[in-house]
Amino acid sequence: MGSGRKGSGRKFLPLYIGIMIAGIAIVSLQRALHRQEPSAPSAPEIEVSGPVVVPPRLNEQQKLGALAFAQACSDCHGLTLTGRATGPSLLVDRYRVMPDDDYRRAVERGAEATQGGWLPMPPIQGLSPGQVDAIIAYVRRMQAVNPNPSLQQ
Ligand code: HEC
Repeated sequence: MGSGRKGSGRKFLPLYIGIMIAGIAIVSLQRALHRQEPSAPSAPEIEVSGPVVVPPRLNEQQKLGALAFAQACSDCHGLTLTGRATGPSLLVDRYRVMPDDDYRRAVERGAEATQGGWLPMPPIQGLSPGQVDAIIAYVRRMQAVNPNPSLQQ
C-alpha cells in the first residue's frame, strides 16, 4: 500500500516540475516586460535635447524627495521633470529661478493656470513639510544636472 502511494507520487513528479518551470518562466517574462515599461516617460511638453539625466548619486533627502515627487507630482510634471500633457516641465528657466517658497505655496494652495493649455494645479495634500523640502531638493538637483531646454533651442 505504502509503496503504491509512493509510486503515484513519482508519477506526478514530472508534472510538478513542469508546473514549477512554467511558473518561473511566467514570472521572469513578467519581469522582463515590466523592465521595459517605465524607461520612457510620456511625451514631454517641451523638447529636451539629449536624454534627461537622473543623477546616479542622490543624497538621502533627495532620494526621499524623488519618491515623494513620483507619488505626488510626476503624474503632471513627469518623473524626470520634463512635463506631461497635464503639467509643465520644471526644467525651464521659469521654475529654475522660482524661489523655494513659491514651490511650497504651489503645493499648499495650488497654482493658477498662467500659460496656455494647462488646467490650474490643485493643492497637493498629504505631504509633510519635510517631504515638501525633500521634493524641492530633488527638483533642484535635477535642474542642476540637466540642460535648460529653453537655452538649447
Ligand atoms: C494635477 C496635475 C499636477 C500635479 C499633481 C502637480 N502639479 Fe504642479 N503644476 C501643474 C500645473 C498645470 C501648473 C500650472 C502651469 C501654469 O502656470 O499654467 C503647475 C505649476 C506648478 C508650479 C509653479 C507655480 C507657480 O506659482 O507658477 C510649481 C512650483 C509646481 N507646479 C510644483 C509641483 C509639485 C512640487 C508637485 C507635487 C508636490 C506638483 N506641482 C504637482 C500641475 C500639477
